Amino acid sequence: MSASAGGSENFWGALPDLARALAIQAGVLAGLWLVAQQLPRWVAPPYPLWAWVTAQAVLAAGVTLLLRLPRWWVWIQLLLPVVLGVAVWLQLPLWAVLMSLVVLWLLFRNALSEQVPLYLSNATTRKALCAAAKTLPQPVRFMDLGCGLGDAVVSMARCPKVVQSSGVETAPLSLWIARWRTRRAGAQVVGLSLWQVELQRYNLVYAFLSPVPMARLQEKVLQQMPPHSLFIANSFPLPDVAATEIWQLNDRRGTYLYLYRFDGQRRLLPPEVCHES
Ligand SMILES: C[S@@+](CC[C@H](N)C(=O)[O-])C[C@H]1O[C@@H](n2cnc3c(N)ncnc32)[C@H](O)[C@@H]1O
Repeated sequence: MSASAGGSENFWGALPDLARALAIQAGVLAGLWLVAQQLPRWVAPPYPLWAWVTAQAVLAAGVTLLLRLPRWWVWIQLLLPVVLGVAVWLQLPLWAVLMSLVVLWLLFRNALSEQVPLYLSNATTRKALCAAAKTLPQPVRFMDLGCGLGDAVVSMARCPKVVQSSGVETAPLSLWIARWRTRRAGAQVVGLSLWQVELQRYNLVYAFLSPVPMARLQEKVLQQMPPHSLFIANSFPLPDVAATEIWQLNDRRGTYLYLYRFDGQRRLLPPEVCHES
């Protein structure tokens, strides 16, 4: 009995997040269909579309939260029925709905494959990155690992100490937008996986990803960061090494930046005092 329970747990756990999310939507839909069969006994039809959409969205998001899928899936589960409900209400053609889903995939592809969705560094963070660049002894070669729409790459290109500002991105639409924006700013974005970047070539590397890739990234950072360099992780620290400095930013979400400084022998410098900016 317990073996089969363990087996089904493993089966569920082994499914990709997308499959689990769709299974939850399908399960909730089936449950609501059963409710709809019984409802006329108590409440006379018709039932408004918005009520079904709200029930589907709230229940799917709730189950997703209970089953502990990554937090952004809760938002996706909430939004998906609303988007489809609005499409039905507006009587949009099927191709328009499919196009919207394709656009979402082109932006959020890495949420499925790498468990890293798209969200952007805010202005306070970009200012702090520029302040961090000023603390480096040499001219700065900046790399944003997973640069999204290129916001940090563009702002770092304007930062006085920075001689090279670059980023990599693999979500197709984000890459296209980032390239277009950064080209105008004299910076450079390449369609490359962050795992293929040679970090030795940069003395300031920035990552705003998710908790999932940080252990693997830690190995890469410790192996490849050059002497007198700085690695900055936004919100998600490297799991097994202490940051040299932790900056808490004065923005709405109280962003934490974890700064890992390497000395002339490429040794990670030990923790210093906390810094607020
Ligand atoms: C949270 S967003 C951060 C965007 C940007 N760095 C910023 O701070 O505004 C993370 C980005 O990393 C991208 N990404 C995830 N895995 C990647 C990979 N293996 N290679 C390149 N980009 C990746 C995602 O597509 C997403 O755009």
